[in-house]
Amino acid sequence: RNHLVIMAGGVGSRFWPMSTEDNPKQFIDILGVGRTLLQLTYDRFKEICPLENVWVVTNKKYAALVREQLPEVPAENILLEPCRRNTAPCIAYVTWRIKAINPKANVVITPSDHFVTDVEEFRRVIKSCMKFTAETGAIVTLGMSPTRPETGYGYIQADLSTSSPRNREIYRIDSFREKPDLETAKEYISHKNYFWNAGIFVWSVSTIVNAFRVYCPTISKIFESMLPIYGTPAERETIDQRYPECENISVDYAIMEKAEEIFVCPASFGWTDLGTWTSLMLLKHHDLYGNTTIGENIQLYDSHNCVVHTLNEKKVVVQGLDGYIVAENDNSLLVCKLSEEQRIRQFAEE
Ligand code: GDD
Ligand code: MG
Repeated sequence: RNHLVIMAGGVGSRFWPMSTEDNPKQFIDILGVGRTLLQLTYDRFKEICPLENVWVVTNKKYAALVREQLPEVPAENILLEPCRRNTAPCIAYVTWRIKAINPKANVVITPSDHFVTDVEEFRRVIKSCMKFTAETGAIVTLGMSPTRPETGYGYIQADLSTSSPRNREIYRIDSFREKPDLETAKEYISHKNYFWNAGIFVWSVSTIVNAFRVYCPTISKIFESMLPIYGTPAERETIDQRYPECENISVDYAIMEKAEEIFVCPASFGWTDLGTWTSLMLLKHHDLYGNTTIGENIQLYDSHNCVVHTLNEKKVVVQGLDGYIVAENDNSLLVCKLSEEQRIRQFAEE
């Protein structure tokens, strides 16, 4: 009764112009390993459940990309959203869709923009959490030890005084705070009991259905009312009609900040959220001068701490740059200071 859900409907705008609205980062082999981020996510998780229990939720636009990149996943398990409403509606949709098949299902839900170094340890932790939620009906998050006051993550305050008697690596959460400001993030990481939320959640369908009923009644009513038609031809049409009514909100704000019975499993398996050019530089090979190049034909002179990315075989020559991003796609070229990379989202939108 284990199910895997992969969320793959984001845009990845801080990686523009490599990641674009038509081809977001999760569908790109940004690490140059021969598999896209979506495929790497699937590879990491696939052994935890049978194929018919693997679900991908994405925007309509990316249906073909998902089918092409994950041909193993049954086509009817690729759920398509008609518009972007962030992760709470996405999770509600797939939760009720699974409930229609098995109300007792146990679910792990994951973003598709992460990189994990120690995959063996990762699988062990996921299995351990899934066993726990199957037995207890709890909500479990994975906690990463923070290394910097990152404001783009959720923070988990754990009660480390006693672990759960059922699973010694799992602790109760005192509070959850999504994307705090810099001052708050600094304060948090000065304590030992704060963790980054990895964005991977483990829970049973019945538990998360109840949480939606309490904290997001409007969203929950929409998907509850569709119970008789999931898996029938009417599902697609009704989703197209009703999905836009959902509030645009992430599960972190909608549920995690409010729910009472949440647990965390602090883990260390080498985790990176590939959200920015800097996060990519930290993972990829650097030359002696701290430069990372992705592309066939890049020549650097007198340059330091730059990341240069080309999609095709175009020759790119860079001279005398320090701490810059140089990246292109067929239509666009970006030259931006690395220290200003949070603004790329805004550039891409404008
Ligand atoms: N299907 C679908 N629909 N997927 C979506 C949507 C949507 O509307 N919006 C985002 N996603 C997918 C993204 O593709 C990504 O894989 C995942 O959901 C998380 O969305 P992000 O937009 O990347 O979230 P975040 O990085 O700002 O924050 C989340 O992840 C952090 C760790 O990586 C939060 O859970 C934070 O608390 C967490 O620390
Ligand atoms: Mg992310």
